Amino acid sequence: MEQYIIKGGRELSGEIKVKGAKNHALKVLATSVLVNGETKISNMPQIGDIKRMLLILEKLGAGIHEKPERNELKISTDGIDKIEIDKKLGNSLRASIILTGPMLSRFNEVILPHPGGCMIGKRPIDLFIKGFKALGAEVKEYKNSYHFKAKKLCGCYYIFPKISVTGTETLMMAAVLAQGKTILKNAAQEPEISALAEHLNNCGAKIKGAGTSVIIIDGVKKLNAKNTTIIPDRIEAGTFVVMGLLTNSKIKISDCDPSHLENFLLMIKNVGGKLEIGKNFIKTLPNSKFTNTDIITHEYPGFPTDLQAPFTLLMTQAKGASLIHESIFEGRLFFIDKLNQMGANIIMCDPHRVIVNGPTKFFGKNVDSPDLRAGMTLLLAGLIAEETTTIGNVCQIERGYENIVKRLKKLGAEIYAK
Ligand code: EPZ
Repeated sequence: MEQYIIKGGRELSGEIKVKGAKNHALKVLATSVLVNGETKISNMPQIGDIKRMLLILEKLGAGIHEKPERNELKISTDGIDKIEIDKKLGNSLRASIILTGPMLSRFNEVILPHPGGCMIGKRPIDLFIKGFKALGAEVKEYKNSYHFKAKKLCGCYYIFPKISVTGTETLMMAAVLAQGKTILKNAAQEPEISALAEHLNNCGAKIKGAGTSVIIIDGVKKLNAKNTTIIPDRIEAGTFVVMGLLTNSKIKISDCDPSHLENFLLMIKNVGGKLEIGKNFIKTLPNSKFTNTDIITHEYPGFPTDLQAPFTLLMTQAKGASLIHESIFEGRLFFIDKLNQMGANIIMCDPHRVIVNGPTKFFGKNVDSPDLRAGMTLLLAGLIAEETTTIGNVCQIERGYENIVKRLKKLGAEIYAK
């Protein structure tokens, strides 16, 4: 299993280009099941989760032509001839559940292996099941799989009992070819959802209100493939902002959309982070003096849960005590024991809240990456730790950050994979 070896204490410099958003690209791939013809997708991130999603689609019968060197691919699902999502692959990728909406809409049937839980939480799918039933589907649960069936999906009025990003996206995709009108209330409002709706509308769908908590979808008969481009990954951009500030570096984070990070950037400024923000770039400036603050993660446009881990690390370098409240996932703070091994002084109050006392010096350690975002945070911790840090289980990091070792080396980081 590959490891990253990092020698900390180096200042970074130069420019890092943000890649396409994992959490938009996965859903655009799913839309290819809904449309006739071939979809050309640009700015496609070359990462583990995308590779798994492509394998799932290929096993279903989709035709895929990749140009990885150009971050581009073409996909046609006219050849899909199966309704069962591959067990092993489906289990390895929680996001495979996104395919259920399009599959049910096009084939009136789909078999989904239990999407694996993961480190960050149990990840139930009750909101999806309730939504599919509201659209007129039958749901049968077996020991290791779910079987969804519907003669024809019919528009419905569905209030999400809890806000769910992929729940919103999956039901939106299920509704675009359903008979009649669907109203989704208490919908998630992430930028990736607005971008997904825009693409579907370009293909002929009739979706209004995406990006707000009420989405209205008028079912249509057919959708035709249209080319599209993945939006910048706001979580990558935010992660690199923390990296630049932590290493006291002047770096330019380009090809990003700062308007997708307003709450996060406000918190960064509130704690003393010095930034220069342009239309499609963010520059971190040296000599920030960080002060403590309290944050609570919240659905968009609140503080993103996917940036909680890097921000928690940043607060270890802030003067004073900071309360970090991870309100969305019950398992997203268990990486703090690894930060404490490296020199942090963080107290776990309960599975959702920690108190960070800073500033403290960091020392290199051998640590394993528990999940995608915590793993990247440990990498950032290695960049500020004295001596050498070894990170194991780096496939977790490579699920969501393309060529990260090569890109950080280009900024002057002393990091290599072995
Ligand atoms: C999406 O996950 C993202 N993944 C996550 O990013 C992100 O952290 C999360 O949204 C929140 O922003 C993708 O887009 C592929 P949820 P999702 O459904 O949709 C509970 C990353 O690091 N819930 O919004 O799966 C759930 O347990 C990943 O890139 C139910 O109770 O998250 C959680 O507490 C991690 N029942 C809350 O809702 C359900 O049926 C929000 O989860 C579904 C969810």
